[in-house]
Amino acid sequence: MTACKHGCPRDDHNSFPRPARHVNGRRGKAGQCRPMTAMPNAAKTTAIAKKIIDEVSPFFHASGSLYPDVLWKLFHEHQDARARVSVETGCGLSTLLLSNLSERHTAFTLPLGDSLQNTQAHPYLRPETTKFVVGPSQVMVPRWQFSDPVDFALIDGPHAYPFPDLEYYFIYPHVRPGGVLVIDDIHIPTIRRLYEFLRDDEMWEHRGDARTTAFFRRTDSPIFDPLGDNWPGQKYNRRRFAVPEALTPLRGAGWYQAEFGVPAPDAPVPAPGPDPRDAEIAALRAEVAALKASTTWRATRPLRDAVDWARRRK
Ligand SMILES: C[S@@+](CC[C@H](N)C(=O)[O-])C[C@H]1O[C@@H](n2cnc3c(N)ncnc32)[C@H](O)[C@@H]1O
Repeated sequence: MTACKHGCPRDDHNSFPRPARHVNGRRGKAGQCRPMTAMPNAAKTTAIAKKIIDEVSPFFHASGSLYPDVLWKLFHEHQDARARVSVETGCGLSTLLLSNLSERHTAFTLPLGDSLQNTQAHPYLRPETTKFVVGPSQVMVPRWQFSDPVDFALIDGPHAYPFPDLEYYFIYPHVRPGGVLVIDDIHIPTIRRLYEFLRDDEMWEHRGDARTTAFFRRTDSPIFDPLGDNWPGQKYNRRRFAVPEALTPLRGAGWYQAEFGVPAPDAPVPAPGPDPRDAEIAALRAEVAALKASTTWRATRPLRDAVDWARRRK
């Protein structure tokens, strides 16, 4: 068995639920891993969640927080997954809640507007469970050393393409089977595509949406190789591939009907339309016509006749 760098058995670190004496392999006083922050019991957890969700305004920072019904769904999914280690991109009301639900919570966020400052100053934040990684998530998440499997991940930081996809790329390999992935703002078109991809993906079970926030549970499917290129191994691509029969050598005859329960769509016939080269040809013809109509063309006529005559004599 491999020990952690503090001598604690590695198996202990990765077991679920984790033994009470470990948290993230951080060194405690006795040279052992730091004891976990004691978790409040279920009734206390529900009571504090209720206080946060009922009392804190969704407008307590200017970037826009998750609404109460979304936070309740987040709470229930977190409890059902028996989540202890969580991460999120962005911060705000969700951070207040996750800092009380998780034993260890990491928020990758920026001091943009007032969300970081208001979250850190809020009396409901449990600073002893929560680490803020301050900097662009585009830089900080790829650099982050995930020392333990993630039980709960919320993607709600930068929303422009391709940032949520980038965060997903660096987080998904760490979410343990049974863990939860939450994607906010699925009404934004590029995030919608990520959502549709996940809904088709074998690694995720869709647990439903609350408003524009989607909830997924990690299945037991093997982790999709983040360093490979098996695009036909992804259901989203198979379902939408323009020429399904091209995948027959890989998937077997009738694979589309077998997988999706409907016949494979016909390959799209390219719509007849103007050849883009037509315009260029027309421009060249016009140039030749203009040249032939020019004085030079008429003046050089005897010379061209002489050249033609010489060519014919050869
Ligand atoms: C919509 S808010 C998050 C709301 C939060 N989930 C809540 O419930 O209150 C978006 C957050 O992402 C942060 N953010 C924006 N761009 C970021 C970036 N490039 N890297 C990290 N965080 C970013 C903002 O500072 C803000 O905290």
